[in-house]
Amino acid sequence: MPGAEEFVPPRARLPGLREAVQSCRGCDLYRDATQAVFGAGRESARMVIVGEQPGDQEDRQGAPFVGPAGRMLDRALVEVGIDRDDVYVTNTTKHFKFDRERGKRRIHRKPSRAEVAACRPWLDAELRVVAPELVLCLGATAAQALLGPSFRITKQRGQVVDLPDHDACAVATIHPSAILRAEDRESMYRGFVADLRVAAETLA
Ligand code: URA
Ligand code: SF4
Repeated sequence: MPGAEEFVPPRARLPGLREAVQSCRGCDLYRDATQAVFGAGRESARMVIVGEQPGDQEDRQGAPFVGPAGRMLDRALVEVGIDRDDVYVTNTTKHFKFDRERGKRRIHRKPSRAEVAACRPWLDAELRVVAPELVLCLGATAAQALLGPSFRITKQRGQVVDLPDHDACAVATIHPSAILRAEDRESMYRGFVADLRVAAETLA
């Protein structure tokens, strides 16, 4: 796996990065996906939110967090008073990884650690250009990619920590997709909102 490094244009800003990512061959995930899904939001955003990878809807529409998980995230952001203009949303990997269920529905598959590492230069470029004050990690894939493989969401969620290699702090929480799959959705959602509130208050 060559990694994305050689595909990332040096010194590019968001429009240049967004264009270049479509030609990335840094791992095999570009092969089956419709397109690369780069982050969305303003360069002036004070917060970067990092998910796992684009889902089915994101792969079709070419934008992050536009499906069911995105709607859950939007609702929670409104609830804690975080302005979408202050947020840049992206993922640890930029191509959708999936299995086909008997040729029909596309089922999300978790990216491997090697794929996340291969894609990392894109995320680092986004963090360099946006230079947020705070990074909110959604789920274990994002949290472990950014905060280290021993990071445990169950134990360390909702805590403000330093983001390694960048001048920012970080908060990790569960992935909104986990809420959608859960039986006790309401209590999971309340916990999610409580963690987002920590992020909101840290920025305030
Ligand atoms: N889940 C993610 O992690 N990212 C998206 O963009 C959509 C769903
Ligand atoms: Fe490149 Fe990342 Fe897509 Fe792999 S997932 S091809 S590294 S953009």
